[in-house]
Amino acid sequence: MSADSYDKYEGLNRLALDRAGQAEAFDAIGDRYDEAFPHKDGQVSSAAWLAGELPPGSRVLDVGCGTGLPTSHQLAEAGHRVVGIDLSHSMVKLAGDNVPGAEFHRLDVAELRNGSLGGPGSFDGITAYFTLLLLPRAEIPYALRMLHDLLRPGGVMALSMVEADVDDFTIPFLGNSIRVSGFLREDLRRVVRDAGFDIAGEDSYAYAPASTDVPPEIQLFLHLRRA
Ligand SMILES: C[S@@+](CC[C@H](N)C(=O)[O-])C[C@H]1O[C@@H](n2cnc3c(N)ncnc32)[C@H](O)[C@@H]1O
Repeated sequence: MSADSYDKYEGLNRLALDRAGQAEAFDAIGDRYDEAFPHKDGQVSSAAWLAGELPPGSRVLDVGCGTGLPTSHQLAEAGHRVVGIDLSHSMVKLAGDNVPGAEFHRLDVAELRNGSLGGPGSFDGITAYFTLLLLPRAEIPYALRMLHDLLRPGGVMALSMVEADVDDFTIPFLGNSIRVSGFLREDLRRVVRDAGFDIAGEDSYAYAPASTDVPPEIQLFLHLRRA
């Protein structure tokens, strides 16, 4: 995809609005999510990288913030101005309770293209941990390009995904069904570079969730810079 295709996100409206069941699943899961995924060492060290790249007081967007733990909390503790968004009402409520010093909105990531939280260049940093995997695969490059444009030049983003060659694939998840997408790591690198990012670093972890309802997974963390 070429770098100028961001303005074609509108062409994906049909997909962007097809969120059936996704918010409902996370509404029902609530803070059971944190019980099922303890010991987020990879995520904590990734957010520490991002927090350390930015001067205190930087404006940082946490996309799909979930309960706000650990990431929004960690970024706020590091002195940043955190803005979290999530599709799920329950998650936004939990995040507000868990991180009173941050600002949270119930928003679909696709709605950010309307400038709801600011225009191009309005964030110094962005985290998106295990959120873009909930989009159809065709939408992920558009979402990445939009997030790239929301960063100021030189701004940084931390992205995590589960390594998997799947597209909008329904899986059981903590007593609910969700649809997930993924890439093999070489393809993911290509997708982020095509969206305009430089890859500053990368980590991968074999992760076994605490719940038997979620299979073991390979988690990929990419540290990105707006080129
Ligand atoms: C797997 S959880 C990860 C939560 C958190 N980032 C973490 O790592 O602990 C994914 C989160 O993304 C949210 N989400 C799913 N689709 C979304 C969308 N289209 N826009 C914004 N948030 C979304 C879900 O409600 C859920 O809270």
